[in-house]
Amino acid sequence: MRHPSEEPLSAALRHAQQYLSTSHPVAATATLSELRAKIHLPLNEESLDPTQVIDDLVRSVEGGLHDSAGPRFFGWVIGGSLPAALAADWLTSVWDQNAALYACAPAAAIVEEASGAWLKQLLRLPSSVSFALVTGCQMAHVTCLMAARHAVLARKQWNVERDGLTGAPSIRILTSSEKHGTIVRAVQMLGLGANSIVALPVDDHGRLRADALEAALATSPDQPTIVVLQAGDLNIGAFDDFSSLIPIAKKFGAWVHIDGAFGLWANASPKLRHLLNGAEDADSWSTDGHKWLNVPYDCGYAFVADREAHRASLSYAASYITYDDTARDQVNWNPEWSRRGRGFATYAALRQLGVNGVADLIDRTCDHTRTLVLGMGSLPGAEVLGVPQINQGLVRFLDPHDPEDPARNDAFTDRILADVLAAGDAFFTGTTWHGQRAMRVSVCNWQTSAADVELVIASVTRTLHAARLTP
Ligand SMILES: Cc1ncc(COP(=O)(O)O)c(C=O)c1O
Repeated sequence: MRHPSEEPLSAALRHAQQYLSTSHPVAATATLSELRAKIHLPLNEESLDPTQVIDDLVRSVEGGLHDSAGPRFFGWVIGGSLPAALAADWLTSVWDQNAALYACAPAAAIVEEASGAWLKQLLRLPSSVSFALVTGCQMAHVTCLMAARHAVLARKQWNVERDGLTGAPSIRILTSSEKHGTIVRAVQMLGLGANSIVALPVDDHGRLRADALEAALATSPDQPTIVVLQAGDLNIGAFDDFSSLIPIAKKFGAWVHIDGAFGLWANASPKLRHLLNGAEDADSWSTDGHKWLNVPYDCGYAFVADREAHRASLSYAASYITYDDTARDQVNWNPEWSRRGRGFATYAALRQLGVNGVADLIDRTCDHTRTLVLGMGSLPGAEVLGVPQINQGLVRFLDPHDPEDPARNDAFTDRILADVLAAGDAFFTGTTWHGQRAMRVSVCNWQTSAADVELVIASVTRTLHAARLTP
């Protein structure tokens, strides 16, 4: 007898194959009201045939999907899905394991154990560090900073899990002006308040200044302190100078956390790992699988050097739970309780690529970024705002009629961004960096080829030429 899920799954496979084998506009074409009209249906009173539900779903979202899994999507920091990871992600839902405990999902627990060990090897983190597979870098920060909060308060004889934050010694967060917004949100979620963050100045390369860090630490040397450093900022891919900053932070007893949402992957490339010199001496590290590793959403990784602090900040013993003394119960390391077996997709991605395949993916996407940034930046009226050292770069476009006017250059850059999107060959997003509007170039997708890069430069050349003639 056929299982009732077989037919809708076959329909899903047909739709998936059709989707993957067709080329799509880089950006969604349907408007907000069109999507609402198609998707906001009255909830049906009676049950529907599951295959019809799937066919209808595919029709309803038509025109509302960006080609963000495709090879010419360079907006934000978006990865695609490696074939093995995508297929494993499907199976994750078929198997529908509750990956909270070994007892509840044995294979899922062991797959996470193995994935954690491989990730530490690739990211060149000490093999003793604890880890958690979470939804993304945002929750990786929360996980790591929970451990940090535990440790810096424990040193002041304060038990934050038991006594909360009311009356606790105040914690400060020292970081750079280039920090990502997820750091602020993590600090807010932990009840430390955004005002506990001190944003320190950076040098000309976007790196936190050592003198500024040392001076800030010295203003209150006994205060519980977390220093948040960055491996790869999303504008120019700046890496803090870990080998000089971490010893300064350690001298004052601070906890050091590294936001390496994508930049931590530079450690998987022999050509790039010098950017992370000294990073292994931090106390915690966050990164993503759904960006540069090309695992489907949602997939982030947290790593903590002080296993006890990590575990103490999260573990909880309930009488109805079957804990395991020998295997790894994920609930002791993750902020969630019930959760999908998200290790399967990571395990499959790492096996598909292997050590050399990951290095090749990182190097290849960096080469493409450089070619795109230098290619577009050398067009008449274009300017490179920093040669990419990894897979992030910035280009801006000058108004042909008044290239000395900053406001007109900002407006012209925004116009080029809109015109490039309308041309439909590539998806870029904008940013304001050092007071100037710029096009961000971010290449994370395993599928992006040299031919894609050539096609995009040709398309931007045409768009820019037309815009310069018709301002
Ligand atoms: C440097 C940095 N940190 C953190 C994040 C947040 O990652 P996620 O969206 O996976 O939570 C991003 C996302 O682009 C990022 O670039």
